[in-house]
Amino acid sequence: MSCPVFPKPAKSKASLWKVFFTKRHSWLDALYERSYGMKMGEYRLPGLTLYMVNQPELVRKVMVQNMADFPKNKMLGDILEPLLGESIFTTNGEQWQKQRDMLDPAFKHARVQQVFGLMQSAVTDMLERLKRHQPGQDIDPEMTFVTADIIFRTIMSAKLNEEQANRILNAFVRFQAESPKLALKKMFRLPGFLQRGASERKRLAAAQEIRGTIEDIIRPRYRQAEAARAGCPQSQAELENRQDILSSLLLTTDKTSGQPFGFDEIVDQVSMLFLAGHETTASSLTWSLYLLATHPHIQQDAHEEVTRVLAEQPMSVEALRKMVLVRDVFREALRLYPPVGFLSRECAHATEMRDKKMKAGSSVMISPWLIHRHQDYWHKPHDFDPYRFTGKQLKTPLSKSYLPFGAGPRVCIGAAFAQQESSLILASILQHYHISLAEGFEPQPVGRLTIRSENGLQLNLTPRNKQEA
Ligand code: HEM
Repeated sequence: MSCPVFPKPAKSKASLWKVFFTKRHSWLDALYERSYGMKMGEYRLPGLTLYMVNQPELVRKVMVQNMADFPKNKMLGDILEPLLGESIFTTNGEQWQKQRDMLDPAFKHARVQQVFGLMQSAVTDMLERLKRHQPGQDIDPEMTFVTADIIFRTIMSAKLNEEQANRILNAFVRFQAESPKLALKKMFRLPGFLQRGASERKRLAAAQEIRGTIEDIIRPRYRQAEAARAGCPQSQAELENRQDILSSLLLTTDKTSGQPFGFDEIVDQVSMLFLAGHETTASSLTWSLYLLATHPHIQQDAHEEVTRVLAEQPMSVEALRKMVLVRDVFREALRLYPPVGFLSRECAHATEMRDKKMKAGSSVMISPWLIHRHQDYWHKPHDFDPYRFTGKQLKTPLSKSYLPFGAGPRVCIGAAFAQQESSLILASILQHYHISLAEGFEPQPVGRLTIRSENGLQLNLTPRNKQEA
């Protein structure tokens, strides 16, 4: 097995000002050699202390056992607010619990299986577009398109057309690019007027463009739900007949008050599902394709697995369950390039960990990127080895050292959804194409809201029937 790309860490820690002026582009560049072996680190910024927690027992304490003492970081909530409003991703306490209870039914296993047909229709369209893929063309935009299309179809029964897709995906690229700049200004406690410059105006306009598109799709459906609640049987029947997740959100009510979600609350949750659901999956699919392209033997094994399973049954949830290697390629891509590279919390009260006295309000960062590459927890941590999940290669149980979807009560609500769509997309590509990297191409991992390749992924797709002829 060989070692796929990752940014070589600096020998020593960069000074704070160097980080501010030169590392805004990617937080991965601010890591240094010791970051990859430490259990807990402390960073003092002007007015803020930040702790990086990598030891599994401490991670459990923060995310599972004492979750209420380590709420989501307010700064992250403020940064994402223009796009996500008060959505489940950033809220805490009772507000979060109420939202989680109302969203959970939409993501139950059975419900995720029900949307398989909608996912498959988006993948069929993707295969049509791939027929136009040119040798060496960047595949990353296609992964972003298909995952956004799946979110639109499964959540809102809306098919994303190319014009709409370009508009909102470009807006999202602008939002992503400007967000780390604001994050650093907030971390360094720059005054408010310096946080509201041209970059922030660009970011707010991008967020409004995305929300506007989502609002236009939701408004008629929301009116229909209001009519159903007012007793219109036709609206009630139409609402119940839809298979999508929006119906589930429109029908659900709060356990205690009996109230449904309001319009703005629905827009907040759907915008959040759009953000959390497409960007993360697109990133891990692009990395999965990179890993398959650079490991031809594993690609061949995975192709044979897909062919064997599909010789016995059509593509279905059941068929995907039998494609263990395809699933493990995706799992290993999530280990090496976890889309959410750090999880951010803060201390609700003063506390202590590994002899460090942490003040109330201090930031706590848990980094799946570092934990997944820690030599104490993984055998050959930088190598690509999808067989490690079924072999005897695990140094520590997955529950301790593998957290691409987070952990504890706030674990990703869409993990089963993401696994199902990713296996479907990878299996469909493996079934039809042999994949290889464009000559001389190497992706550049960068850490922004998610971990992506800055220069995309230039891929050759050779149709299997042509290759085998
Ligand atoms: C490979 C794909 C995905 C990855 C790697 C991923 C990763 C994560 C992680 C790490 C968290 C926890 C964040 C934290 O604790 O700070 C999270 C939360 C969340 N994710 Fe995902 N996610 C993926 C796909 C999805 C999809 C497809 C959806 C929905 C369609 C989704 C919806 C959510 C939601 C709603 C939360 C917030 C849960 C809460 O706070 O209660 N994610 N995700």
